[in-house]
Amino acid sequence: SPASIQAHQGAWHVCLKEHGEPMNTNKVPTKPFPDQKPGTSGLRKKVKTFQQPHYVENFVQAIFDAAGDPRGKELIVGGDGRFFNDRVVQTVIRMAAANGFAWLIVGRDGLLSTPAASCIIRKRRAFGGVILSASHNPGGSEGDFGIKFNASNGGPAPESLTDAISRRSSEIDTYSIVDAPDVDLSRLGETDLGGTVVEVVDPVSDYAALMEELFDFDRIAGLFASGFRMRFDAMNAITGPYARVILEERLGAEAGTVTNGEPLPDFGGRHPDPNPVHARDLVELMQRDESFGLAAASDGDGDRNMIVAPGMFVSPSDSLAVLTANAHLVPAYSGGLAGVARSMPTSRAVDRVADSLGIDCYETPTGWKFFGNLLDAGRITLCGEESAGTGSTHVREKDGLWAVLFWLNVIATRGMPADEIVRQHWKRFGRHHYARHDYEGLDQDVANDLMQDLRDRLPDLPGRSFGPLTVESCDDFAYHDPVDDTVSRHQGVRVFFREGARAIFRLSGTGTSGATLRLYLERFDPSPADDAAGGGEPLVSVARAAGEISELAARTGRGSPTTIT
Ligand code: G6P
Ligand code: ZN
Repeated sequence: SPASIQAHQGAWHVCLKEHGEPMNTNKVPTKPFPDQKPGTSGLRKKVKTFQQPHYVENFVQAIFDAAGDPRGKELIVGGDGRFFNDRVVQTVIRMAAANGFAWLIVGRDGLLSTPAASCIIRKRRAFGGVILSASHNPGGSEGDFGIKFNASNGGPAPESLTDAISRRSSEIDTYSIVDAPDVDLSRLGETDLGGTVVEVVDPVSDYAALMEELFDFDRIAGLFASGFRMRFDAMNAITGPYARVILEERLGAEAGTVTNGEPLPDFGGRHPDPNPVHARDLVELMQRDESFGLAAASDGDGDRNMIVAPGMFVSPSDSLAVLTANAHLVPAYSGGLAGVARSMPTSRAVDRVADSLGIDCYETPTGWKFFGNLLDAGRITLCGEESAGTGSTHVREKDGLWAVLFWLNVIATRGMPADEIVRQHWKRFGRHHYARHDYEGLDQDVANDLMQDLRDRLPDLPGRSFGPLTVESCDDFAYHDPVDDTVSRHQGVRVFFREGARAIFRLSGTGTSGATLRLYLERFDPSPADDAAGGGEPLVSVARAAGEISELAARTGRGSPTTIT
């Protein structure tokens, strides 16, 4: 049984620790850096920041110090292959050995997608994992880098732990590292590093096996065998190797289905963020070439997804709703859903589906970590975010390729084109028009003041009209976690209008320069026309009202958003 194997491995670890080759462990004196507070998803900074002497070491030591006694435990290590991944992975290995970990599982070449890391942490019942990634942020020597710690449930460290890491980073005065040459990560197998076993594993196999358990691979293979074509853009990031093995080798999609499949340190100079702006060619392909039934893309570390149906980009909010409504068609979810959750700015499309299924729908703050407790407690089965993240109980991260396989399974089972599935969904549940306006690179003080003044003005807003819209209610979103009773405040300002519209204001927690204000616009249409036109028109008045309420243009000096997705 897994438990006895685990116990056996535990004993073996101890034994190796006692008899392994002695190795020099250095205790290196260091001084704290003032800026090592993890954000929405770990510590993310410019590569140049991480390249400062001791910067990486300090943060990694802070993680180990805060996460609990590492001695005798197992740690998963890997990253999305961006610039500096290869160096930092070796540092983490040497430091993990010095800190007394018994066993390290490292993806070949230091690579692991975020969902695969989560999968392996859970499968091996490891202590946790160190994931090297700045997700969808650009890579290369001028780009971003990131380090995050995932706990033993496979999910991002909860806020209590990231706070502890941040506190530890501000007082750190030494770190431990063994004196050893680089471990050869190009070959599978085990190396002894002073009594710590470093096991290099194939980054894909455990993950692919999990996908095969969840989905009806025979049916999806049948879909491809019948001539179904798709395009998966791996954006020269981590998902290339995963998508090639799963889509092309196992499921028989035609060669060339996966494009930009080679992970590159600079992601080929592109921005590995799968949205209609950065993956515009996919949207255009699906407008122009009727031979494709689906196009999809994932981000730097493989946890985000973008779905494009024939002639239509499927918003992540709609995707979550459609998958929820069709989950009974997928083997892993055919027994029904415990509940669903969405982040607060995500549209309320899934709420309607949950309502019709008679299951709970939770509204959490932005950040995947907030789903962790609900998943662990068995309160939800599926969850998703407007920021192109969708996932389920199968791991504790959002999962890009999983979402694509889910869509393929639904398309194959219903025998219906993806765009038709979406249209029928809108017919049945109504349509939530949706868009996100990002104002990037704002002055931090300007952005903070805008949010603060907005909060101060909330009590006066209800009943006031802005163009054709009248404010019904508004608040500064706070989340009370029903599992551990923690309360997270100031998670974004919500303004609800009587006309079925909603505007949300929030500052991004993932940027690396200046402040980014996100304005999320939504408007419900109970009986939508039968066309796929984007959320533009119905949202114009919502955007105007939001602009007026927040004095956006006057305060930021911006006439229009930097990006609309
Ligand atoms: C990361 C997290 C997501 C979150 C997103 C929001 O991708 O993993 O859970 O939705 O950041 O980022 P923001 O920039 O809006 O804070
Ligand atoms: Zn990501």
